Amino acid sequence: MFVLVKRIAIMRIVLAALAVFVTVGSVTAAERQYPGVGRDATPAEIQSWDIDVRPDGKGAPPGHGTPSDGERVYLVKCASCHGEFGEGGGRYPVLIGGFGTLKHQRPEKTIGSYWPYASTVFDYIKRAMPFGNAQSLSNDEVYALTAFLLFMNDIITEDTSISAANIGTIEMPNKINFFDDPRPDAQPKGDPCMKDCGGPIKVTGSARKLDVTPETGGDAVEEGAAASSAPVETQVAAASSGDAQAGRSVFNKCKACHLVDSAKNRVGPGLKDLFGRAAGTHDGFKYSKDMMAAGDKGLVWTDETVAAFVADPKGYLGEQLGKSRANTRMAFAGVRSEKDVLDLIAYLKEATQP
Ligand code: HEC
Ligand code: HEC
Repeated sequence: MFVLVKRIAIMRIVLAALAVFVTVGSVTAAERQYPGVGRDATPAEIQSWDIDVRPDGKGAPPGHGTPSDGERVYLVKCASCHGEFGEGGGRYPVLIGGFGTLKHQRPEKTIGSYWPYASTVFDYIKRAMPFGNAQSLSNDEVYALTAFLLFMNDIITEDTSISAANIGTIEMPNKINFFDDPRPDAQPKGDPCMKDCGGPIKVTGSARKLDVTPETGGDAVEEGAAASSAPVETQVAAASSGDAQAGRSVFNKCKACHLVDSAKNRVGPGLKDLFGRAAGTHDGFKYSKDMMAAGDKGLVWTDETVAAFVADPKGYLGEQLGKSRANTRMAFAGVRSEKDVLDLIAYLKEATQP
């Protein structure tokens, strides 16, 4: 009996807490300005957006990492663009050095020479890198990468572990040169307006009319409807072989690194000659040892092998070499949806045709 009473009491507390959360955290459907449009964000959704880490370390998640942990991740996931020593490849940003250049005609602004807060290094990498596969890193990996980059910039020692406890306390060399602008015309005039500031809002255009919104995605429902009115044979063919048009947008994930209609190399090899050739043999591209080994063992790019590779690059290449995961230089987690893979192959076949 006692246990039951206690349980009920706990439930009451939980319910009371939930009630407080609901009233504070969201607007009820009736209170919404445009009822019937959208829905309330869930706490989990809000949490997944709320990833900022402030200069004093507020918001830093649990986890930790040292420079040597970070070096390992860096070489696999970052060096292809930023260079093995952070020197920047091609036009990708330099991450290390540049000290004493801020007054030069062409200052070299890096994390080390320019950035005022170490927390921004964590926040930026967590939010945006690796380019093309943002937010794929664990908190430990991001702490380790932050530690590696700070160490390489001579800001911390080799054995410093970075975590929520110290990310807000690291003194960055250029912090002192960031200060509030004291000039009179840079001061705010009166109280800034924070609510109902403008007049009524008039919608004068839409992204779709201006043609800046991709054709696929938002229109998926309409497109689906159009597709189902196609003759049955074409539908079946499309289902088994993939839809090149849809595959073109899947290829957006690859674009940062690969040109599909040219033999030119970017971060990744040019794909123009892909089908029918052995893995790791595109002219003038510096492949990983594992990719070349897979080619030597007989891996040739066909519909099936490309599909299996893009679905799980490290795993599939590893399989070819009899280990669980290969060290491919392709910093890409893989295309998860089977339909996306089929569509992508259809697009690649079409786009790589001479
Ligand atoms: C495919 C190429 C690519 C890869 C791989 C990549 N980056 Fe970047 N990185 C970029 C580009 C492009 C920018 C500039 C983005 C911008 O200005 O919007 C950038 C910017 C940065 C910056 C900010 C530099 C500055 O001074 O403004 C940091 C820090 C950074 N990357 C760290 C990393 C780390 C750490 C990794 C590995 C997890 C990584 N990047 C992987 C392309 C890449
Ligand atoms: C962050 C850059 C990056 C992204 C994004 C990327 N790749 Fe790659 N890709 C590479 C690199 C680097 C290699 C070379 C890998 C190696 O040497 O281990 C590669 C290799 C390949 C190969 C083997 C080519 C050969 O010459 O043997 C194929 C096929 C491929 N990528 C397809 C894709 C497709 C399709 C996508 C998108 C779903 C994609 N990649 C996304 C960088 C990238």
